[in-house]
This record gives sequence, C-alpha cells and structure tokens, in this order.
Amino acid sequence: MNPMSVCSSSSSSSSSSGSSNNAKAWIIHGVVAGVAIAVAVGARAYLGRSRKFRSRVVGIIPARFASSRFQGKPLVHILGKPMIQRTWERAKLAATLDHIVVATDDEKIAECCLGFGAKVIMTSESCRNGTERCNEALQKLEKKYDIVVNIQGDEPLIEPEIIDGVVKALQAAPDAVFSTAVTSLKSEDAFDPNRVKCVVDNRGYAIYFSRGLIPYNKSGKVNPQFPYLLHLGIQSYDSNFLKIYPELQPTPLQLEEDLEQLKVLENGYKMKVIKVDHEAHGVDTPEDVEKIESYMLERNLS
Ligand SMILES: *[C@@H]1O[C@H](CO)[C@@H](O)[C@H](O)[C@H]1NC(C)=O
Ligand SMILES: *[C@@H]1O[C@H](CO)[C@@H](O)[C@H](O)[C@H]1NC(C)=O
Repeated sequence: MNPMSVCSSSSSSSSSSGSSNNAKAWIIHGVVAGVAIAVAVGARAYLGRSRKFRSRVVGIIPARFASSRFQGKPLVHILGKPMIQRTWERAKLAATLDHIVVATDDEKIAECCLGFGAKVIMTSESCRNGTERCNEALQKLEKKYDIVVNIQGDEPLIEPEIIDGVVKALQAAPDAVFSTAVTSLKSEDAFDPNRVKCVVDNRGYAIYFSRGLIPYNKSGKVNPQFPYLLHLGIQSYDSNFLKIYPELQPTPLQLEEDLEQLKVLENGYKMKVIKVDHEAHGVDTPEDVEKIESYMLERNLS
C-alpha cells in the first residue's frame, strides 16, 4: 500500500559495563535496599504466605481509531492480519496475565476484536491517552486486579516474555509502582528525539528518561563503548497507582521532554526497569507497516 522501505539496520552498539560506585552511593544503596526489604517483608506479612504479592494481573491493550499521524492504525493489516489482533495474540501467550482486554472508544475496533475472540471494554472518547484509557477500563472491569499492564497496540511483535518480565519485576519490587522495559540503543538512534533513552541505578530503578542522549559523553559524541538504553513502550502499574496517575499534575521535566513517565519520577515514585533483548518495531506511520512486513518476511514470521 505504501512505498517499500528497508527495515532498520542491525545494532552496532556493543555493551560493556563500567559502573563505578563511590562510598556515598553504597550507603544510599544500603538505605534504599533496607527500605525495600522492610516494604517487602511488610507486604508478605500483610498478604500471608499463601498469596504472591500483586498476584492478580490484567493486560489492557488501549486502542483508538483517531490518530493525528495514522488514522485507524489498530486495524491496519500486517501481512493480512489486523495489527491489534497480532498484539493480542502475542499477549495471549504471556503466562502472567489472568485476563486480557482491548480498551477502545471505537465501534469498528470493538467489532473487529470481538470477531477474533478478544474481550472488549468500551471507554469514553475523552480519554486523553493510553494511560487514562487503561484506568477507565480498569474501573469498568468486573474483577479486581493488582497490576495493569499497558500493552501498546503499535508493537505487534512484542514478545510475551517481555510482558511477563515487567509483571514479575513489579511483583518483586514492592517499593516500585511502575515497571517498564529497555533494550540496547542503536548508535544511529542516539540523537533521534523519538527514541527515548533511559538511565538506571545499580538496582535497576529508573533515574531519568530523555529524548536527548543520556548519559552525555564529554566529547559530545556517541561513546561506542557505553551501553545506552532505549525505552520500550510497554509499562505496568500497580493498580492503586494507576488510579491516581492521570490525576497527578503535569511536572516541569515531563512538560519539557513531553514524556509522561517523568511525572512518576518527579513525584518521587520508584520505577523498576528490566533490560530485554528486543528489536523495536513500533508502527507509528503507514510507512512503518512496510518496514515491519519486510522484517517479518525476512525472518519467516507470519
Ligand atoms: C567518552 O567516550 C570515549 C570513547 O569515545 C571514552 O574513551 C571516554 O572514556 C568517554 N568518557 C569521557 C569522560 O570522555
Ligand atoms: C495523559 O494526558 C493528560 C492530558 O494531556 C496529561 O495531563 C497526563 O499527564 C497524561 N498522562 C497520564 C499518565 O495521565
């Protein structure tokens, strides 16, 4: 349907870890670890030994029809199958999800999803973003859930293991309210503001996200030795946190970078980050459809 373009080339970033800790960092580390252990012990005592912490998990795929860049995006066919169906089929393979729903404001999307067997929750058109849509869907679900995974419908090749990974990360980190995933940044994406970079502390909690290259090498160039991290769209939230997340006032860094997740950090909440091996194939424009199709054909994915 659109001009063919070649799939993004392979990574050239090599990784070597060069983390250095001074005495102060270790002390802070110790204090935070102490807090985390105290929270974990408290949580376990509260829940009893039989049940896992934050055990009930729902995966929500927010999908809207209207989009400034790509009208009707969730329904676009990728090698003959609607993109939203591909995302849903991947999510179905995740072991940690008790329930999966598509949250949409659009009849056509709802009809399509019901057609391939998905559960659908209708949400209002006033939802301003995927997070708000997830929150509204959560309120409308019959059962209670402890964790909501926001599975973006524009990553049809999302591995079920990544979904499970962010869920388990949040279950294992009671002091975090949010978890997400990163992968190695390709050096050609270093200065692309649409590729969001992330830096984490030595226990895997997010320190900051930026559209600029972080950390920034003194030379002003990409350091081929540094293991830069690229943020992936998938995120999961503690459901109590999700209820207040959309209500939190926008924060200065969030507004400056136009990155929602900074609001979480700026309000002092902790976010757990897992590192995964994933070649990002987000579909943001009609051109991306061609790219992902040729990628899939090259690898015999159907
Ligand atoms: C910056 O990158 C270079 C490699 O390009 C590396 O040798 C150096 O250690 C890095 N850090 C600083 C502070 O220059
Ligand atoms: C969603 O959109 C609203 C309005 O643009 C914004 O205030 C909010 O920070 C966004 N993100 C979340 C998580 O609610």
